[in-house]
Amino acid sequence: MSDKKQDDNLDYETTGHSWDGIQEYNKPLPRWWLWTFYLCIVWGIGYVIAYPAWPLINGATPGLLGYSTRGEVAQEIASVDEANKAINDKLASVELEEIAADADLHSYALNAGGAVFRTWCAQCHGSGAAGASGYPNLLDNDWLWGGTLEDIHLTITHGIRNEEDEDARYSEMPAFGRDELLEEAEITQVVNYVMTLSGLDAQDPAAAEAGAVVYEDNCSSCHAEDGTGDIYQGAPNLADALWLFKGADNKIDYNDIYETVYNARYGVMPAWQTRLSESEIRAVATYVHGLGGGQAAE
Ligand code: HEC
Ligand code: HEC
Repeated sequence: MSDKKQDDNLDYETTGHSWDGIQEYNKPLPRWWLWTFYLCIVWGIGYVIAYPAWPLINGATPGLLGYSTRGEVAQEIASVDEANKAINDKLASVELEEIAADADLHSYALNAGGAVFRTWCAQCHGSGAAGASGYPNLLDNDWLWGGTLEDIHLTITHGIRNEEDEDARYSEMPAFGRDELLEEAEITQVVNYVMTLSGLDAQDPAAAEAGAVVYEDNCSSCHAEDGTGDIYQGAPNLADALWLFKGADNKIDYNDIYETVYNARYGVMPAWQTRLSESEIRAVATYVHGLGGGQAAE
């Protein structure tokens, strides 16, 4: 690299600073750039005054316009609520059985109910409502507490075995083993017998035969003589292939039934009347009723 002499013929202004013979040009910023810069400053000050800007301990300075994105969402929700007010009021006040008769109301209820379901129910019952062990499948015609629109509406409104709602559906299967209501041998017998009710192969056919008496004496008052259950006590049908309390593999076997009889189960669902409006409850009840297992009113 050769040392280049500074070209003194250029008539740029310099700042007058000089280091080791190197001088500093004084090249002003272009006008357009400078004005844009000033405008940005003015705009920035205006923004800080008008809109939420400086972070404080709780939230931010609010700004003179009172604008907030959260407020905008609230406003949007309010305007949707306002637009749906008439149909929601109607949904909340007609007789349950009349919902299906009104095509507009019914389709609104199904749509709104689907949205409620995805928000509030899918965590437990699954997004497709197929349930999981302990959480009933809502797609089939197998109901613990009844499958008419009215039954479903009541179940959702008050929930099941929760502490918060006095009118919650309630029943309690005794823990036959833990509370020593039955001998170990009797439990083995009745579990084998229960397997035969739904056509499963008993582990021990002789025990199953003896189990019929144990069943008759201890179980039939809730699950019915033939094992078909009782919706007034939320006692499941034991004579079909559908099981509420299964193993981790989602299949039923001797041990799962043994566990239920020995320790009993206590399925809890929250009450929804404190969390959802009447029209939302009716919408989701209509939705669940329409999933495939809904029964007509008696
Ligand atoms: C925290 C978990 C949970 C949530 C959330 C939940 N459920 Fe349930 N639900 C349950 C359980 C557990 C049962 C079964 C209780 C039992 O063993 O009797 C149940 C039972 C039901 C039943 C009765 C089924 C039958 O066979 O009779 C209906 C209907 C139902 N739920 C609808 C809903 C709807 C609608 C929602 C949303 C608004 C919802 N559930 C949210 C846990 C839940
Ligand atoms: C007081 C009524 C009552 C009596 C008596 C009773 N059960 Fe139950 N049983 C229930 C209820 C209620 C449930 C559902 C519990 C839940 O959902 O949390 C149930 C659930 C079951 C289940 C689970 C079914 C499934 O789909 O997973 C089995 C199995 C069962 N009972 C067997 C028996 C046997 C065997 C006896 C007699 C030794 C018996 N029960 C006595 C009320 C009763």
